[in-house]
This record gives sequence, C-alpha cells and structure tokens, in this order.
Amino acid sequence: MVNYSCEKCGKSFKQKGHYMKHLQRKNPCDNINDKIEKIVENKVDELVKEKLQDLVEKGDIEIKNKNLISNNQISNIENIEMETNNNKNVFNFIEVCSGGGGLSCGLEKSGIKPLLLNDIDKNSCKTLRLNHPDVEVFEGSFTKIDYSKYINKCDLLCGGVPCQSFSYAGKQKGLDDKRGDLIIKFSEMINIIKPKIFMIENVKGLLTHNKGETIKYVINECLNKNNLYNIEYKLIKCVNYGVPQKRERVIIIGVKKDYKFNFNFPKETDKIMTIKDALKDVPKSMGAIYPEKKLKYFKKIPPGGCWINLDTEEQKEYLGAGYYSGGGKRGLLRKLSWNEPCLTILCSPAQKNTERCHPDENRPLTIRESARIQTFDDDYIFCGSLNAQYSQIGNAVPVLIGKLLGDELVKSLISLKLNNI
Ligand SMILES: C[S@@+](CC[C@H](N)C(=O)[O-])C[C@H]1O[C@@H](n2cnc3c(N)ncnc32)[C@H](O)[C@@H]1O
Repeated sequence: MVNYSCEKCGKSFKQKGHYMKHLQRKNPCDNINDKIEKIVENKVDELVKEKLQDLVEKGDIEIKNKNLISNNQISNIENIEMETNNNKNVFNFIEVCSGGGGLSCGLEKSGIKPLLLNDIDKNSCKTLRLNHPDVEVFEGSFTKIDYSKYINKCDLLCGGVPCQSFSYAGKQKGLDDKRGDLIIKFSEMINIIKPKIFMIENVKGLLTHNKGETIKYVINECLNKNNLYNIEYKLIKCVNYGVPQKRERVIIIGVKKDYKFNFNFPKETDKIMTIKDALKDVPKSMGAIYPEKKLKYFKKIPPGGCWINLDTEEQKEYLGAGYYSGGGKRGLLRKLSWNEPCLTILCSPAQKNTERCHPDENRPLTIRESARIQTFDDDYIFCGSLNAQYSQIGNAVPVLIGKLLGDELVKSLISLKLNNI
C-alpha cells in the first residue's frame, strides 16, 4: 500500500485524493522541518555540553576560554578551546575539512588522538562535537585557524581539502577554481606547523586533471614548496581493503625529509565485502523516498539492473531525449545487487543519473545503511536534516580506510620515535 506523506507537516495519507486535498488547503499546514531541526540542534548542544561537563569534572580536559563557563557550567560550546590531558606517548593529529568525521574516526580507532577537528559546515561540526566531545572543533574556514600553538607539536596534519575543483563532475578548472586555492592554504599550514607527517585525501580526478600537471603542481609547487617533505601518493580502491563499496580516493602522504620515507600504504585483502555482508542486521533508520513517478519504473527493475531492464516504450518515456544520446547511462534507475559491493555512496541519495536503489525495496538506502557501507559504527550519530546527514556520509573517507591508514601511520611515528625524532 502506497503512503502519501506531506513534506511540510509530516502527516501521512493512505488515499491520494485525501493527500491532494491536504496540499490544496486554504490555510497551508505548518512547516515542521525547521522546527524539528531546531529541536534536534538544541538537544545535540545539550548532549555535547553534558559530555564535556563530565570530562571537565573527571579532569580529562580543561576549558581554556573561561568566558564560556559560568557557575561552573559550560554556557556555549561553539569554538570552545580545550586542553586534553593526554597520555604523552599517544600520537596526535589535526584534521581540517573533517566533514562528518569518517577519517578522524578511523584514525582514532588506530589510537591517534585528535588535537583539533574543523569544518566550515555547521552540521558537520555538530556531528564532530557529539561524537568526539573531548576534542576541540573549530567551526569555520580552516584558513582562519590560529596555528601558532601547534607549531612542532603535531604528529600528523591531515585534511579532506575540498575536491570539487578536480572532480570529474565539476568543470575541471583545478587550481584556477577558488576552492582549488585551499590546497595552497593547506600547504602554507604545513609549512607553519611542520607536522612529522601530513596526509591529504582527494578524488581520483586529481591524478588525471590537466594531463597529470595538476598533481605535479600540487606536490612540487605547493605541498613541497620548501622542500621539507618526501611525498608519495596512491589511488586507494576501497573495495580492495574490506570496504563494501567501489569508492576510489587518492591519498597523498608527506614525511619530514630529514628522515627516510618510512610509510607503507596498507596491504590489500582478497576478501570482497558485499552489500549483503554490510547490511546484515542493520538498525532501522530514516531515509529518503522516491517520488511516485520514479517508483513506477523501479518496481520493474531487478536487483543489479537499471533502465535497460524496462521495455523500450518505458525506456523512451523515462529517458526522454536522453534515450537517443550515447553512453551506457548505467547509473539511471540503478538498483543495487546483494552479492556485489555497493557503488560509491554519494552526498545525495536520489540524484537522477546516479541512483542507488535498495536491492529489494524500491527506495534509496537509509542513513544507517549508507553509514554501514561507509563502515561507520551503528552508534555514530550524524546531525542536521536528512539531506545534511546523507551529505556527511557521502563525503566521508570510509572509517575502515582511516583505520588502516592510521595503523600504518602509527608504525611510521613509532619508528620516528625510536630514532629519537
Ligand atoms: C570530502 S569532505 C571531508 C570528509 C572527511 N574527510 C570525512 O572523512 O568524513 C570535505 C569537507 O570540507 C569542508 N570544507 C570546505 N571548505 C572548507 C574550508 N575552507 N574550511 C573548512 N572546511 C571546509 C566541507 O564542508 C566538507 O565537509
């Protein structure tokens, strides 16, 4: 039975007629989405405050901006600065452009402790604060961070510095695009902080952009302008590392030049994880739905299929003029297959050319299903609207990749330590 639900007030209807009547009401219903978002936001702030208060009381952290404390209670959590009473043997990292925290979560699982996380997006920062309550989160452009206190104190500096300027989907303007400048800003940060190791994550397109000239420029003219680091990079095909997803990302690593390059990229595994493996016992959660006009076609497509499985008339009806254009267009009306890894999880689950419909149910993957494909734990909570949550998940480095890289980084840092570096 199809259920119609009002996007504004959330009320649901079994009959289309009742639903249409509701939409055409004289006095339009209240838009509760904004209200819900505000309620959730306040609840998240309260939870983070509670967790921080607990850590302060245990003596695990100290809040540095005293103006944010009144009557021994934390009054505001935005841009709170804190000192973590770290075990001195633990390695630390700073991550800029942290998004919802896929990479940082993986690095933490390897035992590397975050000193500072950052993102320009409000919801991502809320997610970071909620899941890492004892870590300082700088909300705003990383170009505005005061790095002076971290000079020579940071083991690993990393960042998912925005990739839109190089992505295949973008206009391929590379460093001419304003966002491309952020790589230059990140390079300046490396030269100020001088971490033992730095790591950048970016899209595959960076390798081939401008016939390979862009990556050369990024490495030689930006990241290594002062000739301080030995740099290597690798295209990581996540599916070869136990992630149930065909995601590919470039990882660039720089190790201080005074020492020989001693980082080994993680070893690949033979075991390919499928959607069936990933979604076993996945908890129920919120998710997007397809509009009725799309559902009608999805109902006719088998797992692993796409528009090609419709009959010719329906193909023409759905694709319109696109039917006559070239290319396989296999992302159109694409249904996932239980026995294969998932296609790359994207920021928006129901885009026309890049659908990833659940194998059996005619809907996009839910939040928890998408998070499982990105190897987040089920108790990792994402903040913000449904779209904001999908976006943080779609942007993330799979947690498992972060952990595998983290394990290798720890080995490198230990070897630097053994050499008294
Ligand atoms: C690819 S995502 C990072 C994903 C992250 N590494 C993870 O594993 O979850 C890039 C992030 O950069 C953020 N961003 C873009 N420009 C920024 C800036 N100037 N300063 C800080 N964050 C920025 C975006 O909001 C986005 O969350």
